[in-house]
Amino acid sequence: MDKATADFRNRFPALSQQVYGKPLVYFDNAATSQRPDCVLEMQKTMTEEACANVHRAVHRLAMDATELYQQGRQAAADFIGAPADEVVFTSGTTAAINLVASCYTRRFLRKGDRILITEAEHHSNLVPWQLACEIYGTELLVAPVADDGNLDMAAFRRLLEDGVKLVAVAHVTNVLGVENPLAEIISAAHAAGAVVLVDGAQGIVHSRVDVRSLDCDFYAFSGHKIYAPTGIGILYGKRSLLEEMPPYMGGGDMVDRVSFEKTTYGPLPLKFEAGTQNIAAAACLAPALKLAAEVRDDAALQAGLDATDRLLAEQLATIEGLHCPSLANPLRKGIFSFWIDGIHPTDAAEIMDKLGVAVRTGFMCAEPLIRKYTEHGMMRASLMPYNTPEEVGIFMDALRRAIKMLR
Ligand SMILES: Cc1ncc(COP(=O)(O)O)c(C=O)c1O
Repeated sequence: MDKATADFRNRFPALSQQVYGKPLVYFDNAATSQRPDCVLEMQKTMTEEACANVHRAVHRLAMDATELYQQGRQAAADFIGAPADEVVFTSGTTAAINLVASCYTRRFLRKGDRILITEAEHHSNLVPWQLACEIYGTELLVAPVADDGNLDMAAFRRLLEDGVKLVAVAHVTNVLGVENPLAEIISAAHAAGAVVLVDGAQGIVHSRVDVRSLDCDFYAFSGHKIYAPTGIGILYGKRSLLEEMPPYMGGGDMVDRVSFEKTTYGPLPLKFEAGTQNIAAAACLAPALKLAAEVRDDAALQAGLDATDRLLAEQLATIEGLHCPSLANPLRKGIFSFWIDGIHPTDAAEIMDKLGVAVRTGFMCAEPLIRKYTEHGMMRASLMPYNTPEEVGIFMDALRRAIKMLR
């Protein structure tokens, strides 16, 4: 392990623990990342010091909590190049997409209008649109994905011409880890008169995001996949759209004036933030995203991650009967999903767990995509810059041992 990776890794206390007496190898980062010291410190501050509700009181603790909360919003806005009032706090990517599926559809779409997604979407970017179609009479179209995980752009463009008013697409897909050509997707969608929501749950971790230059209409992501705690997410939306959309939920903090006859709503983004939010987790976005920005610009850490990724790719290719559809795809970002002939992935993962190795298995919230390849689900190993070549060695030994026991 190089020094940059070793120093970075030391900032994550959870990574130095043992499980079943074995050193932990955490390769389930696409599900949730581990939390660094600076985020743990902020969680402590928000619990032991600035523990109060935001916006509502004039006392010191409330003012401190409000300031830290707003710093979290500003950090998220800076991280994606957006103005802070176009950044709405949600509980995560799922809640952000549901907000748009509900409020945008209600305001802008009509019966028979079409919504276009892709075959590689997470259930969070599929089921909310199915629900919207049930409620508002819209129709869902699905663009196919090639075996290596690349979106079939010719088919995508053909489908766009079919009355599509909204496109919802992953930035980086969660099973195959492939980055979609967002610039091309967004300009084609806009030319066809459709708005674009980007599911950035994985993309925010692996790519530089500037929503203004991308010109996407909505961008959704979760804090917990990028060093922050669970329970906080972001919906970026263009002001002109957010202003026209009705609120998602009613309650405290989202209002301007309230009477029994009529209620008017607060300014953006408060209109979409009814009730007490996850204040502590929101404040943690500031240290988490500051660190993420440093990591993104750290050539040594990025080179370490690339080397670990290459090593894992080479090693997986040596396993007989292993199929990893996006293994050689140059657009794959730190995610390896695969299956092995004759081995049930969950049985293998249970053995690997006892050897200290954490991976994800099953349908990974993308059942229609995975069933295209295999009926038993896949195993997914996903990397962050704190993962090391030594861990790849332990992972591969554990995988080989599981295969030997199960064959
Ligand atoms: C591509 C993608 N979209 C959406 C989600 C849902 O994120 P959350 O559960 O944080 O709302 C995930 C989580 O794995 C994901 O990978």
